[in-house]
Amino acid sequence: MEGGDEEPAVVAVVTEPRFAQRYRQYLEERQLLDARHRVQQLPGGAGVALPVRAQAAPERLLRELSERAAPGSTCTLTRLARPLPSRRARVCSPAQRLRAELRRWAEARGLAWSPELEADVPRAWQRHGDLTLLGDDCFQAEPWRRLGPELWGAVASALGARRLAKRGRVSPDGTRTPSVTLLLGDHGWVEHTDNGIRYTFDVTRCMFSFGNITEKLRVASLPCAGEVLVDLYAGIGYFTLPFLVHAGAAFVHACEWNPHAALALRKNLELNGVADRCQIHFGDNRELELSNVADRVNLGLIPSSQEGWPVACQVLRKDVGGILHIHQNVESFMRKNLQKTVPDERGNGSTGDVQGEMLSSATRPEWQSWAESAEAQIASLLQVHGQQWRTRILRVHPVKSYAPHVDHVVLDLECRPVL
Ligand SMILES: C[S@@+](CC[C@H](N)C(=O)[O-])C[C@H]1O[C@@H](n2cnc3c(N)ncnc32)[C@H](O)[C@@H]1O
Repeated sequence: MEGGDEEPAVVAVVTEPRFAQRYRQYLEERQLLDARHRVQQLPGGAGVALPVRAQAAPERLLRELSERAAPGSTCTLTRLARPLPSRRARVCSPAQRLRAELRRWAEARGLAWSPELEADVPRAWQRHGDLTLLGDDCFQAEPWRRLGPELWGAVASALGARRLAKRGRVSPDGTRTPSVTLLLGDHGWVEHTDNGIRYTFDVTRCMFSFGNITEKLRVASLPCAGEVLVDLYAGIGYFTLPFLVHAGAAFVHACEWNPHAALALRKNLELNGVADRCQIHFGDNRELELSNVADRVNLGLIPSSQEGWPVACQVLRKDVGGILHIHQNVESFMRKNLQKTVPDERGNGSTGDVQGEMLSSATRPEWQSWAESAEAQIASLLQVHGQQWRTRILRVHPVKSYAPHVDHVVLDLECRPVL
């Protein structure tokens, strides 16, 4: 285990089989039995070993057992070379197991366990292969510092990970970029396969949203054969790649200003064998020197992609126009748990479970009014092209519930020149 620490040995009291039941009862009543490990018969009739929790005064415990638990019995202490997990330990959740193992590890190093530490152990995390990414709301209590950096080896060991990283607080500068620190391991590059597409990126430098899966799948099923696309907020290629690999796009212009994301995007295009059908435009997309090329423009930025609307209009083909996929976080006030309906561009509907609260587009007046206002603004931006345009709202799709009363949605807006 990379950077890991040796497992502290499990200590057990050994006695004759006929006294084992009374010892177990005595230890359980005093919460001294180590419930994570099984009571076991030692080979060669050497007795029964009852695993006990770390003890400050083992001699006193042995005396109590032989005098009070089963008078006349004898017992010794041993270290179990191969402790067996108890049935309870085997059925506990990964979060419970992490808490139990950390507690044992910390106590073996003289740290008194407390409700503060218990509450500060993470209950959820993201797995990226052998790297586990912890949230920002754990390991903040001061006592952890006394354990030194070996703590991260113990956490990784308990989680079955080789590398460990942790999110910091979301930056207060408005970009909402979470800062991620590598705690264990020598790099933050990870790889995912999603809908047959391979993505690699550095978790300490780029964001990965598991919540956008519905939109990635929808994009993959769009009829884009032969089309030229502009992806204004390409990131590591979450939408660029499904457009190229599954939707049949002929070419994608991918805009990205984060050098780390652009590097990952380049690697991902190569990993998936589509680098020859994509040009990365590195820099601020508002300064993009491209016009009159796109059959479709993807604007995958939340909370709003509004700053990209002028350039989206600029890149649309002037002869036939095209479709804009505009992402936005929309605030709503009425909520109910319903099933969503996600019809595709050709009008086919499919229903499915929704993560969190989400309603179908037909029942969300806030989405509709945002879509109408976006349509009006785009229509006026299109006039600068010096010709008449007609716009049409095709659909507003839910992507995910972003926060209480806030939904991430995508507006599919058709924009056609009036010839
Ligand atoms: C939310 S990520 C989008 C990634 C992907 N579309 C998704 O939803 O998973 C937005 C990306 O757009 C990039 N970005 C934001 N503003 C930009 C701009 N003005 N020009 C170029 N890239 C920009 C960010 O660096 C980031 O990688």
